[in-house]
Amino acid sequence: MWGGRFAEGPAAVMREINASIPFDKRMWRQDVAGSKAHVAMLAQQGIVSAEDAATIDAGLDTVAADYAANGVPEDLVLEDIHMLTEAKLAEGIGPVAGRLHTARSRNDQVATDFRLWVRDAIDQVLAALAELTSALLARAEEHADAVMPGFTHLQSAQPVTLGHHLMAYVEMVARDVSRFRDARARMNLCPLGSAALAGTSFPLDRQMTARALGFDGPTRNSLDAVSDRDFALDYLTAATQTALHLSRLAEEFVLWASQPFGFVALSDQWSTGSSIMPQKRNPDAAELVRGHSGRILGCMTGLMVTMKGLPLAYSKDMQDDKPPVFEAHDLLGLSIAAMTGMIQSATFRTDRMRGLAESGFATATDFADWLVREAGLPFREAHHVTGRAVKRAEELGVRLDELPYAEFQAIDARVNESLYDVLSVDASVASRTSFGGTAPANVRAAIAAARESL
Ligand code: ARG
Repeated sequence: MWGGRFAEGPAAVMREINASIPFDKRMWRQDVAGSKAHVAMLAQQGIVSAEDAATIDAGLDTVAADYAANGVPEDLVLEDIHMLTEAKLAEGIGPVAGRLHTARSRNDQVATDFRLWVRDAIDQVLAALAELTSALLARAEEHADAVMPGFTHLQSAQPVTLGHHLMAYVEMVARDVSRFRDARARMNLCPLGSAALAGTSFPLDRQMTARALGFDGPTRNSLDAVSDRDFALDYLTAATQTALHLSRLAEEFVLWASQPFGFVALSDQWSTGSSIMPQKRNPDAAELVRGHSGRILGCMTGLMVTMKGLPLAYSKDMQDDKPPVFEAHDLLGLSIAAMTGMIQSATFRTDRMRGLAESGFATATDFADWLVREAGLPFREAHHVTGRAVKRAEELGVRLDELPYAEFQAIDARVNESLYDVLSVDASVASRTSFGGTAPANVRAAIAAARESL
């Protein structure tokens, strides 16, 4: 491609370090689409003849068909997908192929291809997140009033419902969706026509290529267009935050599937056995989702660090932008799909959840609130009285609602027997009717609202 200036070919290691074809071949569809849009524009502007453009366009279709049928050959000599495609085109149609690269550089070409690829990747993630949300909503609805212990510091805190707990993840995923949509909208400008860095003297119609490739318009500054990888970083930060949410849910599944918790039984399809311990049912998929989140975060930090010291405009360091994005995308796709499958097929042990909610003094706050409401105590005093009741129940080895009335009276004479009404876990969750609270009616309303906005 640049033989005119060189007498010797590259060293073998030079060739190897320089080549991106082993990974950027994933962008062949985007590369062909970009070239087709470019040549159609060149023809419209009279920069290449209509006849040559038609030959090039048909030749590109042949190359694409060959890639689709036989795969993309990893020819290190041709360095990257852009050079490979052009070489294949020349094989097919001869020297007229050389007109395709008029008013174009690989710098604006790769920036365009990669944006197209990331845009497609976002659409795939959004579809997967929609399925994850549906799975969460279905299980939340099923368990809208299943009581479980809610935790702070991983200590039993107040009863909540499993539906409410699952809906918390629906909220997280909704924010993830909005981050990906936001990233998509921001990146949707076309770098093609920025050429190497300075723009070009050819009379291009950049609006035309932008439109043909589904962009909202052309990028506004040629230097920025060829050296900007914010769109990839936006993808990676959105992916990292999504992975972080999946990791928290995965961690909960790992805990919940453990014997001491026993909140969930993962289906056979989503469990693994041990080669030595026959009783084992390990939550490997959840653990790997948790693990993958670390790798995705690594991809994000990797590209941030690659970019942070680069002067304008293009430097070859930027070729290293693709592996972390491809890796993160593959890991994220697997993670979302695995989480969706686990959620859909898990058996929630609601009896066990209820039992633990009942035994952990989780309604102590309800008793304190009752003392404020019914007996007129200041909350701080009510807190103290309740603490003594919990201590006494613990001494007697009973639950709070099993503590005899005489014991309550001995602690504070201002009680009456209606206090027992607030000590059940069902009464507790039913009373949490503040907007966003765990009352089953609220959970059902939240599910309906989430379905509405899907
Ligand atoms: N393979 C290169 C990349 O991925 C394409 C752009 C090369 N441009 C250049 N001037 N060497 O970034």
